[in-house]
Amino acid sequence: MEKNLFDSSNVSKIGLGTWQMGLKGWGSGYEEDELVQALRTGIKNGLNFIDTAEIYGMGKSESLVGEALREFDRKEFFVATKIAGFNATSKKVKISLKGSLNRLKLDYVDLYQVHWEPSIYTNLSELFRELERNVEEGLIGHIGVSNFSAENIRKANESMKERKIESNQIKFNMVERPNHLLIDFLNSNEIKLIAWSPLAQGFLSGKYSASKRPAGTVRRINGIFKPQNFERFTPLLQELQRISETRKISVIQLVLAYEKHQGVLPIPGFKNTNQVKEIVSANSVQLTEFEISSIEMALQRSGILETSVGFYPRFLPNSIARLGFLFM
Ligand SMILES: NC(=O)c1ccc[n+]([C@@H]2O[C@H](COP(=O)([O-])OP(=O)(O)OC[C@H]3O[C@@H](n4cnc5c(N)ncnc54)[C@H](OP(=O)(O)O)[C@@H]3O)[C@@H](O)[C@H]2O)c1
Repeated sequence: MEKNLFDSSNVSKIGLGTWQMGLKGWGSGYEEDELVQALRTGIKNGLNFIDTAEIYGMGKSESLVGEALREFDRKEFFVATKIAGFNATSKKVKISLKGSLNRLKLDYVDLYQVHWEPSIYTNLSELFRELERNVEEGLIGHIGVSNFSAENIRKANESMKERKIESNQIKFNMVERPNHLLIDFLNSNEIKLIAWSPLAQGFLSGKYSASKRPAGTVRRINGIFKPQNFERFTPLLQELQRISETRKISVIQLVLAYEKHQGVLPIPGFKNTNQVKEIVSANSVQLTEFEISSIEMALQRSGILETSVGFYPRFLPNSIARLGFLFM
């Protein structure tokens, strides 16, 4: 197995996220069979990096991903899954990992990520040493994290003998991203930024408005859909619409092509095969310098919402923290 997953392997420049395959919290229109077919369409068309997590639908997403993968050779895809922060202790790693492998019907996962920073009572060094042992056993290809600060990535790296953190999956899209210090840290340490919510959960598609908000718990509690954000980002959305019409591509393709240009790995979620086909087409879109600077000028005018990586109350014991994630 390669030393660094993102350096030398053939991981696609755009991946697919599968929180929606957990079938919880995303509103109506998300159907099991359609999602499986949609994922297969993505892989057949070169989107070979698939992100899931044990927590999405409490295992449902991993099971459906496993079903979709059955018709592919193991070398045709890269699967990234995540251990929930409240399970991320050295004692529980093996149980979570085996559970994920069973549901995915795989012998190993390509990338195993710690979903968010574990509670303050967790010994981070022991956790990452245990993850490294599972790499040695061949159950994990590479180790990544998600929603981690630079400080905790440093601690994780200091704990491991042979391995390094290869990726940090964080909220990153045109209008929401963390402080540039974290992004600079990832770049200077060759840690891949995997961009979650690259479409701002559909906000950037232009199909929603203050009076037409998406259904489902997940997006009801997402601050991006507040009326003031529709007002603030309307000029940006109009500019995206204008560029996409001139270019004869969709806004979604434009947004993903821009993020790809920034060197991050976007992993958009999807509802159906048509959405996946649109994501596939974004893979081949190359933006001109002029288009990029037009987008950047519009972004300068609207500004960006700075996000924080630490959204989880780390002082709560794991047993209580678990209750907060029932809708996922
Ligand atoms: N590590 C973490 O903490 C974390 C957190 C969140 C997400 N993630 C990962 O990141 C992935 C993506 O993030 P996300 O799902 O939150 O948000 P996203 O990718 O920004 O948005 C996904 C939503 O956008 C809409 N969409 C997708 N393709 C479209 C198209 N072609 N045209 C119009 N609308 C389209 C769909 O919703 P509608 O059609 O219903 O509007 C879809 O459910 C997740 O699936 C998950 O794997 C990780």
